Formats: sequence, C-alpha cells, structure tokens
Amino acid sequence: MTFPENFTWGAAASSYQIEGAKLDDGKGLSIWDTFCEQPEKIWENNNGSTACNHYHLFRDDVKLMAEIGLKAYRLSISWPRVLPKGTGQINPKGLDFYDKLVDELLKNNIEPWVTLFHWDYPYELFARGGWLNPDSPDWFAEYANVIVNKLSDRVKHWMTLNEPQVFIGMGHQKGLHAPGYKSGFRDILLAAHHSLLAHGKAVQSIRALSKQKSIVGAAPVGVVFMPQDNTAQNIEIARKKMFSVENFDVWNNCWFADPMVLGEYPKDGLKMFEEFMPEIKTGDLKLISQPLDFYGANIYMGSYIDESGKIELDQGPAYTTMGWRITPPALYWGPRFLYERYKLPVVVTENGMANCDWIHSDGKIHDPQRIDYVNVHLHQLKKAIADGIPVTGYFLWSVMDNFEWEHGYKQRFGLIYVDYKTQKRYLKDSAYWYKKTIIENGKSIL
Ligand code: FCB
Repeated sequence: MTFPENFTWGAAASSYQIEGAKLDDGKGLSIWDTFCEQPEKIWENNNGSTACNHYHLFRDDVKLMAEIGLKAYRLSISWPRVLPKGTGQINPKGLDFYDKLVDELLKNNIEPWVTLFHWDYPYELFARGGWLNPDSPDWFAEYANVIVNKLSDRVKHWMTLNEPQVFIGMGHQKGLHAPGYKSGFRDILLAAHHSLLAHGKAVQSIRALSKQKSIVGAAPVGVVFMPQDNTAQNIEIARKKMFSVENFDVWNNCWFADPMVLGEYPKDGLKMFEEFMPEIKTGDLKLISQPLDFYGANIYMGSYIDESGKIELDQGPAYTTMGWRITPPALYWGPRFLYERYKLPVVVTENGMANCDWIHSDGKIHDPQRIDYVNVHLHQLKKAIADGIPVTGYFLWSVMDNFEWEHGYKQRFGLIYVDYKTQKRYLKDSAYWYKKTIIENGKSIL
C-alpha cells in the first residue's frame, strides 16, 4: 500500500489570511478589510491588515516551503489587489506580486495551485450588490481573464471558488463572516446561484485563455458522513446522508457540487427550497457544469451516522482548539463517497488542525497532536487509495499560522509558527515530520 508516484504533497494558505499589506501599492479594499473594521466581529478585534506580512516576506516564505520540501503550494489571489474596484482598471503592482510569487515558487520546484476566490471580495463590488448582483458572474469572469492571461504560462492548476458553503453560509446567512449578512433564504439562494455561474464562467475562461493545458477544479467543503461500521446497509445510510439536502442552509455537498459536476440542482433541495428559488435561465446549468479535471474537497472532520440516519455524538471526544472533532475516517469516506458520486479524481485541498502551539522553553515548537492528526488522516487517505479511489493530492492547511477569520490569531493551523510581533517564522516539529513524509512519499504512514 503506497501513495501514487506523482502524488501531490502540498500545503495551502489564502491571500487575506497571510498577505497583509492592506492598502499597499494600490490595492483596493476587500469585504474582509471592512468587516474587520467593525467592532466585535473578530476575536479581540484582530484583522488581516498585516497578518503574516507575506506580501513583503514572500521570498523568505517560499524558502521555508522549499525547506519543508513541498511539491505544491495552494495560494489564492486577492481580487481587489489586482482589480482595486473589482472590474476595470488593473493594478499592475498587485498583479506583479503574484507574477513574482509564481516565479519564486517555480524556481524552488514548488508547483503553484491557484485559487481564484478565497473570500476576499472587492468592497467596491459589494457596494454594488456583490453576489446578489446579476452582473456578478461577469465581474468574476473579467477578473479570471486577467489572472489567467498573466499567470497561465506558468500556472497549470486552478481552483475557482473556495468553500461556497462557507462564504454563502457564514457570510450571507449566519452573518459571522464578511459581508456579515443574515439574509432571507431567497437572497441566499440567489447569491449561491450567481457564485455557481461565476464558477462556470471562470472555468470557461481558464480553458479558453490558458497558455498550456490546464487542470481545473473547485475547492468546496467536503461535508462528510461516516457509517458506524462496514455493513453494506450502514454504508448506504451514510452515503445517502452525504448527498441529501435536509436543512434550510447550504451546508451540504450537493447544492454546489451537483450543478457543477452533474449539471442539475439536487431534487430534494429543489423541492424543499421551491418557494425561494431564483430564476434559473436556460443555459445556466450548462454553463455551471463545465467539465472539471478533479474534485477538490476541504475535509477536516466527519460525523458518524446511526441506523436511523441521525448524527451520533460520542461523549468526551478528541477535538482541536477550534472545537472540531477529530474523526480520521472522514479522509477515507469523504474521498470515497465523493468519487463514487462525481467520478472525478479527488484532491484533498485542505486538511489539518488548529493546535495550542507556542515556543517551548527549548526554543522549539512541539506539536505532536498535529503530527498524529495528519498521520492518522493520511493513513485513511492511503486506505481509500488502496481501495481504488483516485486521490491525486493532499494539501495540508496551513503552510503557516495565519488570520483564522472570525477567530483572528487565536487559532494556529500552520506547519510554520509565526510570531506576529516580530514576524519571525519557526518550523514546528510537524514541518520536519511532513518533510520526511514527503521525501518517503508517505511510506511510513501505516
Ligand atoms: C477552511 C477555510 C480556510 C481555513 C480553514 C481552517 O474553512 O477554507 O481558509 O480557515 O477552514
């Protein structure tokens, strides 16, 4: 049992969470900049204005990535850094930053995997209605064109949207993420539909303008349900749950992935949401379901399901500092169920844990919990591969500690520890462990 030979061993981060440089070199505001300006939205009123100062320190950061031996780095682009107003005028210095970052990565033999949208929506477009505006898919296509024209001679791997479940669910329904809306369900579904159209248009743009053969996917949340045991009956119960729409929210796999991959909204959701559905125009679903090359899934945990289809919660569970349960088989069942339904090779675009890391008295950052977490999750992934599921890559979240949205800097997910005051970086024990794992192509993951 081994990992495939050219398995992509990577780590990920996103623009707003690490770059800082809020207004440097002509960058426009993003909705996360303005959301953080509101009191009490973020833990201790933290914000991403400086974050890891990656905008200025990217060369050092790439060096550290090379030291860890990453084969790939999943980054995202800040839309308002490149197009300060979201459309129209390009900010050459902003675009240049990504140009240099990509060069630096390639110089260090690290393959850039680019996500077009990891939530830092241009404030100026938000003021024009954001994802509720019917023009928003075209705005996104314009932005995608700019990026693809500039980077596709060197960038092969693309993801359109990161976790639509979260930027719609947390941003438009719960109000906990930017833009902070607690909208009615009609607006939620409208924004979601526009984001799906934006995805489709961006895929078209990548295909049309790429200067080399592109490999394209998205990075939705993998909402995972796991059977209690391996009986055929319980497996089917978990599978059914994984692909159902049961609540008045978008926290499920199908609402986004079915249109993207299968070209239709799920029937149960359509029935349940009937009254609130936006107008679906002829051609919308065809546009949304552009052929994809892989199914990206961000998977941190899963829920066990009992015989009656209910979530089973054990008492005294293992959990991370985010309060997320540690359930390694999520990395077996998630990829397996997703592959069996969508028939696309799977890439785990995010997996990892927040831990209470600090610099120990010996000057090092010992994070055995993280090492164990990644080890046991990779073990499950390896099992899925052994069972014939084509999993082609794994991206650990995150390459470095960063601004964890509403939790600010309270949560540390990185392989690299960041001292935010001095901006000094330190490799945690897990970084050395991951390096060894990559060198051995996961041989010691048992
Ligand atoms: C995911 C996000 C990522 C990070 C991790 C912990 O939902 O995509 O930006 O916050 O969770």
